[in-house]
Amino acid sequence: MPQQQTSADLPAPVDDIQQIPTISIEGIQPSTRQRAFSFSNLVKRTRRAYSVSSVYPVKAHPALALPFNSQNNLSPEEFVDKIKLPSLTPAQRRNSIAAAHRKYEDFEQKIEAAPLVVLVSTYLNYFVLILFGHMRDIIGKIFKRKEYAHLRTNEGYAPLVSDFDSFYTRRMYLRIRDCWNRPTTGVPGRKITILERESKDFNLTFRLTGRKLEAINFSSYNYLGFAQNNGLCADQVEECVKQYGTSSASPRLEAGTLDIHRNLERKVANFVGKEDSIIVSMGFATNSTTIPSLVGKGCLVISDELNHSSIIFGVRLSGASVRVFKHNNMIDLRNLLREVISQGQPRTHRPWKKIVVIVEGLYSMEGSIVNLPELIKLKREFKPFEKCNQFYLYVDEAHSIGALGENGCGVCDFYGISPKHVDIMMGTFTKSFGAAGGYIAGDKAVIDHLRATNHAFSYAETMSPLVIQQVSSSMGIIMGEDGTDDGVKRIQQLAENSRYFSRELRRLGFIVYGDEGSPVIPLLLFNPAKISAFSREMLKRNIAVVVVGYPATPIISSRARFCISSAHTREDLDKAIQDINEVGELLMIKFKSLRFHEPHTDPSDVGCVGSNKNLPCSGGHTAEMLQLIKSLDPKYYYPRTYVIANTDLLSSEKAKEYEQSTGLQNQFDIRTIPRAREVGQSWSKVPVSALLALTASVKVILLSWPDLIICNGPGSCVPICMLAYIPRILGIKKIEIIYIESFARVESLSVTGKLLYPFVDRFLVQWPQLSNILDKAEYKGILI
Ligand SMILES: Cc1ncc(COP(=O)(O)O)c(C=O)c1O
Repeated sequence: MPQQQTSADLPAPVDDIQQIPTISIEGIQPSTRQRAFSFSNLVKRTRRAYSVSSVYPVKAHPALALPFNSQNNLSPEEFVDKIKLPSLTPAQRRNSIAAAHRKYEDFEQKIEAAPLVVLVSTYLNYFVLILFGHMRDIIGKIFKRKEYAHLRTNEGYAPLVSDFDSFYTRRMYLRIRDCWNRPTTGVPGRKITILERESKDFNLTFRLTGRKLEAINFSSYNYLGFAQNNGLCADQVEECVKQYGTSSASPRLEAGTLDIHRNLERKVANFVGKEDSIIVSMGFATNSTTIPSLVGKGCLVISDELNHSSIIFGVRLSGASVRVFKHNNMIDLRNLLREVISQGQPRTHRPWKKIVVIVEGLYSMEGSIVNLPELIKLKREFKPFEKCNQFYLYVDEAHSIGALGENGCGVCDFYGISPKHVDIMMGTFTKSFGAAGGYIAGDKAVIDHLRATNHAFSYAETMSPLVIQQVSSSMGIIMGEDGTDDGVKRIQQLAENSRYFSRELRRLGFIVYGDEGSPVIPLLLFNPAKISAFSREMLKRNIAVVVVGYPATPIISSRARFCISSAHTREDLDKAIQDINEVGELLMIKFKSLRFHEPHTDPSDVGCVGSNKNLPCSGGHTAEMLQLIKSLDPKYYYPRTYVIANTDLLSSEKAKEYEQSTGLQNQFDIRTIPRAREVGQSWSKVPVSALLALTASVKVILLSWPDLIICNGPGSCVPICMLAYIPRILGIKKIEIIYIESFARVESLSVTGKLLYPFVDRFLVQWPQLSNILDKAEYKGILI
């Protein structure tokens, strides 16, 4: 009977990643440490069985450096000097001081939840769509029998495509089909040329109009701008075609292996810091054929819930069991690992033959970057249970290779982690290299195994010589082989462009996903009706962008996805931002309830919660309120919503004046509401006017969905503050309320103050007498 471990036997968490004992820097030889367990050990037997003799000489693995620490006795400055030495390989250079301190939390962007009102309207939208769609199907099948023949039972046979299966395609996708598969021509570089088309039958068919439209391209994965028809890459590709033609006209296993195939495999291995690699002519097939070569029955794949379909497809083909963990959630993964290791295989409870955790480096729909440091910690944590229980790490770097890291070498480079901690590195050439195909890099023994067992490698057409040359040239530029700093500049430009673009969109109030530095920037649209509206409106403004909805995303989080390129200029980005802002206003998709973007000190000691503020102003209170706002840094407190009584013209002007003086644009909003009671108004009319004020206040709260409300006494802030309390009672959101009693109130509270006293979070008074008689009141000085 195989011995089982219980979860209690499993190791306690290891918190310190610095414990990884693999430090070596140039000039200091790495200690020759016997690998206790590795993927190569795992496949050695298989390798013998297939008796594959490698054509590759054994290559010494470069001494990869971990950042400075106590073991190499270098100060940070000495370490920097050391890694700057020109003789260092890219793999050695990749570990820098900056990278040494990188943790996922440093650039993680919290995913912002949709405002309640947006969620409700989105679900309502789908409800109406489904209801009417089914009604039309039922009626159509009765009255339009011919048109609906393919959905009805056909002479006793079940319909090939049931109305349920095709419902989404017919009732949703068909209406907005013009936003996808747009035909283009020319080079998909910084700009893209779109062939205009029209449909006269509600998107059933399209006809090209013959007109061409040039748009700034945010839809191609041209991260480093290598998709070009001129320059070094194009020239070398041209030369290569003259020498090798366009195809090797055979699979690798037969006569298809050219010298340039092998050269590229060595180059890729060197680039990513692994012993060896294989290249495959299609990125999708790289995953879907490699995974079945590595795992099968009795093995377990643990997959991130948002992994690409090529991974899912590969796992299904392999016959291995699969368990899914929450996206990039290391706590969930750890719990899952404990469970699967302690329980073993279903029914027999035998230990799993292999456990492989598969993640992506950069998630193409979310823009999130894998939490690699925590994954490596987990690997170490579970390491003591060798032979059957350690898990292997497979990282798909389709989007991160070239695009992340100081040297463009992917997530390991980005974090400053040695690639040896990742067992299988997969990547594609379709994104950063402006080419096609994919690679698998790993220990030599593993790669030899794949050469014999990977179907795409053995049976599929090999990578075309011109594609090989494009990859080789662009990779060479990234590595600085051309003797210029073009590659480094592209990498830096991409990082700068990505940060600028996402920061500006966030600042404008959009909900934007993606971790800091990600060139994939999804902007949330939520409502399905806005998918097509956004795409069409952006195209009208000559911006090409991909929009994504269900089933590629969860049903409520439809989005537009911007792919940033180093080829984009600041003007391109600014034009796009301006257009997105315009479309955002038009479609009302600036949902963000902004949190503070940077740590700050409380500027006026009146409160430091949230940033999307409602600032009820009215008449004599305006001067105080403006005084108060001036003491808040507008960079952190935005967007600002001024709520003003509709009879008060002066306050609105003053608010605009102040906003202009900040020099910041599009950060504020002025909303007017009727007063619950005008000064001198008869009390008999108050119920009606109060109801009107309440209705307008509901709109203000729902549209601005603030984090913080600051008010200083006008009656109009009563309904606002009361309504803002409801989400707190319902447990949806805590909107903080700060109330400042008027300067005119020395010994007693105003009516508004009395009404709001129980509800507000901070109650500030401008006379010490008041703070003496009220528990909650705080005296912090006077405002004016
Ligand atoms: C994570 C991931 N893996 C694999 C692939 C497949 O790559 P290719 O498009 O080169 O076939 C993609 C495609 O976008 C991807 O995003």
